[in-house]
Amino acid sequence: MKVVLLHGADASEPPEDPVLGQIEDTLRGLGHETTRVPVAGDVQAVFQSLVAAAPAIVFNLAESFDGKSALESNVAALLNLIGLRYTGSSPAGLLMAGDKSLTKQVLSFQKILTPQFASVFRGALDHVGDLTFPLIVKPPQEDASLGITSKSVVRDIKELFGTMDSLQREFQSPILVEEFVEGREYYVGVLGNVNPQALPVIELDFSAFPADRPKVASYEAKWGDGGTGGEGETGAEFAGTKSIFPTDLDPALGKRMQEVAVSAFNALRLRDYGRVDLRVTPDERIYVIEVNPNCYLEQTGEFARAAAESGLAHGQLVARILELAQARYSR
Ligand SMILES: Nc1ncnc2c1ncn2[C@@H]1O[C@H](COP(=O)(O)OP(=O)(O)O)[C@@H](O)[C@H]1O
Ligand SMILES: [Mg+2]
Repeated sequence: MKVVLLHGADASEPPEDPVLGQIEDTLRGLGHETTRVPVAGDVQAVFQSLVAAAPAIVFNLAESFDGKSALESNVAALLNLIGLRYTGSSPAGLLMAGDKSLTKQVLSFQKILTPQFASVFRGALDHVGDLTFPLIVKPPQEDASLGITSKSVVRDIKELFGTMDSLQREFQSPILVEEFVEGREYYVGVLGNVNPQALPVIELDFSAFPADRPKVASYEAKWGDGGTGGEGETGAEFAGTKSIFPTDLDPALGKRMQEVAVSAFNALRLRDYGRVDLRVTPDERIYVIEVNPNCYLEQTGEFARAAAESGLAHGQLVARILELAQARYSR
């Protein structure tokens, strides 16, 4: 059948995101005909390419529109309006999970633990919880750790106001202030719809992280680029984190994390696949930090590695996501 690979405009710029070729190879190997459609600046062009391709289904890898991640849900909404079938979450899921403040409100209602928070929306205080320092300050609609540096973690009022001020200047967006959860960080993939299954737990191991910095997966730690926060030894945070399958994890705790991940996936009405980011305190309280619908599918990324660990090789994972999406439309 005909499959369109819908992707962000930046994914095809050199160096091209390897995930495009990987998924394309798999789909072709399965006998499908594939066309790439970038979601670039001109919505008319995107619309026309989609209509002209007339795919049986769209593999939706677009995490932004015109580089704006806040518009991610609108891309899925466009597919709905055109009447195309597509993989991954609906606009509702993308919108809720794409806004960290909204995510936390939904999770709290469902009694899923998430750090206490305060949020500022349109310059006004939207919610203020019972917060204790240290806190972490972030732009609630950015992704991939944009806007998160070691300076995002604040220990007193003075630091809090300083960080909020620079965030306002840079992003002019709402602000989310959260209790900083000291503890280990885990990622749990979830796959499925009717009875979503959690994948094996991956840990972001901070043991080699610079001791003088707060343990956060900052932009530098994730992408190895100093960005705005990397003063001092650039690259030290990047070199200090690696994702591993933890060997010392209590199986009962691992199982609870998987249950929390599936609950969060369901609470936010995600579809097909997603990844839930957790922080766990030494006394084993499991906090949901973030929920990522349509998470990154690159072969060496956390989600694909967790799937492989559960027995689904990359090609099988891609095929499974396509099947899950198709099954939704035939129900
Ligand atoms: N409340 C928190 N407590 C501890 N660490 C946090 C908290 N919020 C974020 N972090 C750290 O910052 C990283 C990025 O934050 P996250 O909310 O996942 O944003 P992004 O969408 O950019 O991934 C997390 O992976 C974690 O290391
Ligand atoms: Mg995250």
